[in-house]
Amino acid sequence: MKIAVCPGSFDPVTLGHLDIIERASKLFDKVIVLVSFNKNKNKAVFSTKERIEMIIAVTKDLDNVVVDCFDGLLADYLKMTGAEVIVKGLRAVSDFEYEFQMALANKKLYNDAETVFLTTAGENMFLSSSVVKEIASFGGDISGFVSPAILEKIKNRLCPNTDAQQADNAV
Ligand code: PNS
Repeated sequence: MKIAVCPGSFDPVTLGHLDIIERASKLFDKVIVLVSFNKNKNKAVFSTKERIEMIIAVTKDLDNVVVDCFDGLLADYLKMTGAEVIVKGLRAVSDFEYEFQMALANKKLYNDAETVFLTTAGENMFLSSSVVKEIASFGGDISGFVSPAILEKIKNRLCPNTDAQQADNAV
């Protein structure tokens, strides 16, 4: 059984992530979407539990996809679970240097680990969790960037003046 891991911060999961997860689910027997920790990033807006819940909500129709979290090295998670493939989405040349470095480091830490890069769909080239958070925090429309299943949750958290938040506050 070929098990692949899609690691990331997923703060929050975007349609760009979802596209990569869906395509990985067609290539591998099982895909573990792994909420992992990026030491180079500031504190996450959404808790680990919230990020997991959002990923579960958007992947509920993908039978061979499961969600997990791990706060150690990705290479150690692979050794522990028997997964041998790391799937990452590549948006642009700017992603490449960092991702290339990660792939080589993970290979050095665990020789069986193969990193597979899937090119992001053209319409998602610009898309990232940070872009979603920035637009949402100004009350902009993020409906084209995240799944409808998690749209209200993100708006509620990031744009406190929306109708949804006012309704939330009234309860
Ligand atoms: O979505 P991100 O923030 O680009 O994902 C980066 C992530 C979380 C996949 C990466 O930082 C990671 O693998 N973290 C786990 C710790 C680890 O193994 N670091 C790499 C050592 S070479």
